[in-house]
Amino acid sequence: MAHSIDTTHFWMPFTANRQFKARPRLLTSAKGMYYTTDDGRQILDGTAGLWCVNAGHCHPKIVEAIAQQAATMDFAPTFQMGHPKVFESASALVKIAPEGLNRVFYCNDGSEAVDTALKIALAYHRMKGDSLRTRLIGRERAYHGVGFGGVAVGGIAGNRKHLGPTLAGVDHLRHPLDIKRNAFSRGLPENGAEIADEFEQRLLALHDPATVAALIVEPLQGSTGVILPPKGYLQKLRSICDRYGILLIFDEVITGFGRLGTAFAADYFGVVPDMIVCAKGLTNASVPMGAVIVRQDIHDAFMQAAPADTIEFFHGYTYSGHPLAAAAMLATLEVYRDEQLFERAAALAPYFEDAVHSLRGSPWVKDVRNLGLVAGIELEGIPGKPSARAFDIFQKCFWEKGVMIRTTGDIIALSPPLIIEKGEIDRIVGAIAESLKELKSVPTTAEAAV
Ligand SMILES: Cc1ncc(COP(=O)(O)O)c(C=O)c1O
Repeated sequence: MAHSIDTTHFWMPFTANRQFKARPRLLTSAKGMYYTTDDGRQILDGTAGLWCVNAGHCHPKIVEAIAQQAATMDFAPTFQMGHPKVFESASALVKIAPEGLNRVFYCNDGSEAVDTALKIALAYHRMKGDSLRTRLIGRERAYHGVGFGGVAVGGIAGNRKHLGPTLAGVDHLRHPLDIKRNAFSRGLPENGAEIADEFEQRLLALHDPATVAALIVEPLQGSTGVILPPKGYLQKLRSICDRYGILLIFDEVITGFGRLGTAFAADYFGVVPDMIVCAKGLTNASVPMGAVIVRQDIHDAFMQAAPADTIEFFHGYTYSGHPLAAAAMLATLEVYRDEQLFERAAALAPYFEDAVHSLRGSPWVKDVRNLGLVAGIELEGIPGKPSARAFDIFQKCFWEKGVMIRTTGDIIALSPPLIIEKGEIDRIVGAIAESLKELKSVPTTAEAAV
């Protein structure tokens, strides 16, 4: 029996509020790979919530850790105070981080972690006496959350258009998606590494490299439709940054914690950035938490620049290293290790790749992109109605097939929990294939209206 709830007062984020409220999709409980809806249906989770529940829902060890912590100490400040778990959790995190990245600043989510990393970059150069370095470079179609810094370096038109000018001194590198040359690539695309050269040849030539503080990139652009780095592309960005003393920040909010079969995408690509931004899978999304993992000498520059007994970095959040988040994170990292979930993702990746590429040839499918346990399926849109086609598939999967997928524009994005079984991969892909076929034979209202 569906709940009858008044949906009036909650202003929903990144949602077509009026459309949603006309027919709410309500989730009321979750376990493992499945959500339960308010009308008692089981929904197979093809998106790990929002790219975040990597160990599956309501993992008993994580639930227990949070419950125990809540009963023991609900909150303790980390401004001029501390609690053991916040230090233990930072030590646990650096154990799985790339070598040399071993200082952790905590925040509450990906957006705050991005803004924190950008601030660290600007402050670092200034502390080193290099105060010319104030420019930040992002990429087109990048998503770095919704803080003012993240929106400025981000490259999503819709997110920027209401804000007017964001930060001054920001520029963007072209994104590397090139369907013409790379359609239906399995894994990393062959073509496009030369787009990285434009960083040096166009942006740095234009702005003067000595004015650039940092380049921030998602190793794999998730939110705008799974844009993969061409082979050799990230390596090129790393070497350009090295050549000019520019900090390289990897935003691993989506790619962190096993999504590509390694702890971080940095490990997968063999490219070590100067800072890693992470969130989501950090606590299996059970308690909000974000973090910036920083190269030691960047951290040490702050320690050396400030007089002893003074605050070295004027930044922080009331909930930086909240006890519940720290407890959840410690338990989450243990689950990842004990259940070998990163290895599991790596082992499942070829099966997942074959499954998603079986959609080639289905109606409207113009590209399939995949890496690790991430896939993007790009559809031909309905003329004049961008994103409607993919959203029709999303609705069909949810209401008729019992499967939750995610769509962005006319791209379907899949990022299931790493505990997924092969049969469940087949079910998700089967639901999409059937929905495409059924919509082809019976056009939806959106399509019929064109
Ligand atoms: C790459 C990336 N950075 C930052 C964010 C923002 O994270 P949050 O929504 O936790 O603020 C996201 C969210 O999806 C993301 O994908």
